[in-house]
Amino acid sequence: MAVPGVGLLTRLNLCARRRTRVQRPIVRLLSCPGTVAKDLRRDEQPSGSVETGFEDKIPKRRFSEMQNERREQAQRTVLIHCPEKISENKFLKYLSQFGPINNHFFYESFGLYAVVEFCQKESIGSLQNGTHTPSTAMETAIPFRSRFFNLKLKNQTSERSRIDDQLNTLLKEFQLTEENTKLRYLTCSLIEDMAAAYFPDCIVRPFGSSVNTFGKLGCDLDMFLDLDETRNLSAHKISGNFLMEFQVKNVPSERIATQKILSVLGECLDHFGPGCVGVQKILNARCPLVRFSHQASGFQCDLTTNNRIALTSSELLYIYGALDSRVRALVFSVRCWARAHSLTSSIPGAWITNFSLTMMVIFFLQRRSPPILPTLDSLKTLADAEDKCVIEGNNCTFVRDLSRIKPSQNTETLELLLKEFFEYFGNFAFDKNSINIRQGREQNKPDSSPLYIQNPFETSLNISKNVSQSQLQKFVDLARESAWILQQEDTDRPSISSNRPWGLVSLLLPSAPNRKSFTKKKSNKFAIETVKNLLESLKGNRTENFTKTSGKRTISTQT
Ligand code: GTP
Ligand code: MG
Repeated sequence: MAVPGVGLLTRLNLCARRRTRVQRPIVRLLSCPGTVAKDLRRDEQPSGSVETGFEDKIPKRRFSEMQNERREQAQRTVLIHCPEKISENKFLKYLSQFGPINNHFFYESFGLYAVVEFCQKESIGSLQNGTHTPSTAMETAIPFRSRFFNLKLKNQTSERSRIDDQLNTLLKEFQLTEENTKLRYLTCSLIEDMAAAYFPDCIVRPFGSSVNTFGKLGCDLDMFLDLDETRNLSAHKISGNFLMEFQVKNVPSERIATQKILSVLGECLDHFGPGCVGVQKILNARCPLVRFSHQASGFQCDLTTNNRIALTSSELLYIYGALDSRVRALVFSVRCWARAHSLTSSIPGAWITNFSLTMMVIFFLQRRSPPILPTLDSLKTLADAEDKCVIEGNNCTFVRDLSRIKPSQNTETLELLLKEFFEYFGNFAFDKNSINIRQGREQNKPDSSPLYIQNPFETSLNISKNVSQSQLQKFVDLARESAWILQQEDTDRPSISSNRPWGLVSLLLPSAPNRKSFTKKKSNKFAIETVKNLLESLKGNRTENFTKTSGKRTISTQT
């Protein structure tokens, strides 16, 4: 306790009365300037007291005068529930901005309270004007302007940064390492060698979380067979009266062309691809692909072609990730949280995808005040001629030069953002509204899909069309529960030495009932082991062994 003057036990009339009704509170006058102590003694010795030694101090005032004076004092006084650890000086400095303080004292009674008497009544109005009504995900507050306040610590650097540290640690531990990224590019290059047998000028480009900076160790390797170089060969201008064309086979649609190319490449990888196993041709999907495991690297690979928009989406996410250091840490934590609660899965189905979750975080950060991320439309207005890009009739123009984008003025901590993210989506009107990062505001849903997240480039499409109502409800319930857990931690945060799971770790634990019995019954060792295993499992299905070599981490992966 940072409050000086601890230990002076005083019986306040107020508490003496409460003692008869409620469990005996510990009442401790923690700080009491002389004037207050005098007042209190007066309080304890009403007119007619028989105790000796005090009679001469009893003011010779009428009862009504005394009452009026007391009432007037009380009207200039506020009652504040304080955090356990509070610096008295900072507390007084903070309150003095609302007006001069006549006197104050602290006492304990099921928490720490401060009684603060201002010199002027007007100060109370200005304190009330600087006070907000709290909102929680689970309950509705009835707004009421009283003189009974709850004081919370803001920017408690050592405390707050503990959760911020957790989020940053998670990012550092699970983000793709330099070596892992190199291995991803090498794998693409090896597949490119194979594809070059048919398409000599092709490029196999990684996209998705391997390159958008949101990739977690163990994430799949999305590849895109880029045939634009082959298509654009006609650009070579040759003089003369003739125009030479390749003889080609025509098919009815772009989709059929994609299916044919992938079908042949799938066969090729299956029959001749060194280290390529478990090849599956998934050609009837909305976006046809060949899925296989690349044994040597340990990556689960998805090869697509004609998927330039996805590559552009990766570039957009890369820009958003680079604009503010909080973006990646928040996306990572939300992705890990979703994985820990089986909201996402590596098997396709009715669940939310990591891509959708990332869009939700970006949208949420666009909605902060001031915004942490700009809307896609504002990135478009910053674009120059070089950035102009239209793919299959879709406008994919946005600024690529990061230096042209102004940094955000928002200074909110990661802890606050995580909590607010859960509150925001725990209360989002999913039944009415869609999420749209292009405009950065909610819009009416164009159809009845439970979750509608507008595709940023193909604006008539919903990237979360697959999500069922029950999966969305699970997300909402967990978001509310997580907001509540973080809210509780504001008031009931374990000490640094405690081994009780807290902050992000408590959010990653399986479910609420388990969490309760977990904290009550199991030993600390078990707690630490469970969280460790949980975090291990977050890496994905494959085992990834880390060895530290001269301070640099190297990674070997195996299926
Ligand atoms: P991980 O779960 O870590 O693999 O995340 P990811 O971002 O790589 O997602 P995923 O492998 O499912 O998809 C790869 C990329 O394809 C994404 O980054 C997007 O660019 C794109 N993508 C995924 N799903 C959709 C979708 O529903 N619509 C569109 N237009 N693009 C998608
Ligand atoms: Mg992926």
